[in-house]
Amino acid sequence: MEQRVLFLSFSSLLLLSFSGSVDAYKNYTVGDSLGWYDTTVKSNVDYQKWADGKNFSLGDFLIFNTDNNHSVVQTYNFTTYKLCDYDNSVDNDTVEWSSANPSNTLTQGATVAVPLLKEGPNYFFSGDYDGEQCDNGQHFKITVSHGKGLPDSLKDPSDQAPAPNAADYDSTPDTVVPFDFNNPHDQDTDVKKDSGSLSLYGKFLDMKLNGILLLLGIVYMF
Ligand SMILES: *[C@@H]1O[C@H](CO)[C@@H](O)[C@H](O)[C@H]1NC(C)=O
Ligand SMILES: *[C@@H]1O[C@H](CO)[C@@H](O)[C@H](O)[C@H]1NC(C)=O
Ligand SMILES: *[C@@H]1O[C@H](CO)[C@@H](O)[C@H](O)[C@H]1NC(C)=O
Ligand SMILES: *[C@@H]1O[C@H](CO)[C@@H](O)[C@H](O)[C@H]1NC(C)=O
Ligand SMILES: *[C@@H]1O[C@H](CO)[C@@H](O)[C@H](O)[C@H]1NC(C)=O
Repeated sequence: MEQRVLFLSFSSLLLLSFSGSVDAYKNYTVGDSLGWYDTTVKSNVDYQKWADGKNFSLGDFLIFNTDNNHSVVQTYNFTTYKLCDYDNSVDNDTVEWSSANPSNTLTQGATVAVPLLKEGPNYFFSGDYDGEQCDNGQHFKITVSHGKGLPDSLKDPSDQAPAPNAADYDSTPDTVVPFDFNNPHDQDTDVKKDSGSLSLYGKFLDMKLNGILLLLGIVYMF
């Protein structure tokens, strides 16, 4: 649960920093104004009908407006969906997005935003009350297409790390200069020293600049 909260805050942070590119992705409010309920609460919900007219792509969000007596389970596993069975689901293909414990007496509103992270069939249902609400119409299937692909903000950070040595792949190997026994003090030495001190100076400048920028940032914050 904590991981999920961490992930959510992490993604919203990233979303904020990439907000310029988010416009291309869509947010769909599940059931529109009816929200996300079973047929004993709202007799006229038909989520499959709601979903069938729409094209969903990677990076879109489904927004579920519901209460804490209903949950949002997202699964890629047809068996889990078919059986309305969150309790026996496998961890790696099923996520429950709402964290509140179901309450029969004290209900309060809840809005759950679920990102579409995987192409192909995605299934949604309420996992509360042993699948009772799912059996009562609270379920639907969508097919997610590639679209523009996932925005950086939703990519798994571990997928983004460059492959080891990826940057070196095309670079030419360092030329090996054999040591000259007859002339150990080769002419390059002075040049190397110079460029060394130059780049040191550059680094120093860089650090100074960064320090100034940091200071400016701190001053700006107050
Ligand atoms: C879509 O929903 C997500 C999650 O709530 C939010 O961060 C994002 O800003 C929304 N995007 C749009 C275009 O409304
Ligand atoms: C969904 O995609 C199909 C085929 O690409 C297109 O014909 C249809 O108009 C789209 N529907 C919506 C609601 O965008
Ligand atoms: C789907 O979930 C069921 C439990 O509901 C599990 O037994 C099965 O192995 C899962 N299928 C895959 C492909 O992981
Ligand atoms: C999920 O885990 C099961 C074993 O518990 C494994 O057979 C299956 O390949 C895994 N699926 C994915 C998508 O990693
Ligand atoms: C909570 O959900 C259960 C199962 O759908 C239902 O029987 C009960 O009446 C609901 N409680 C409230 C307060 O809506």
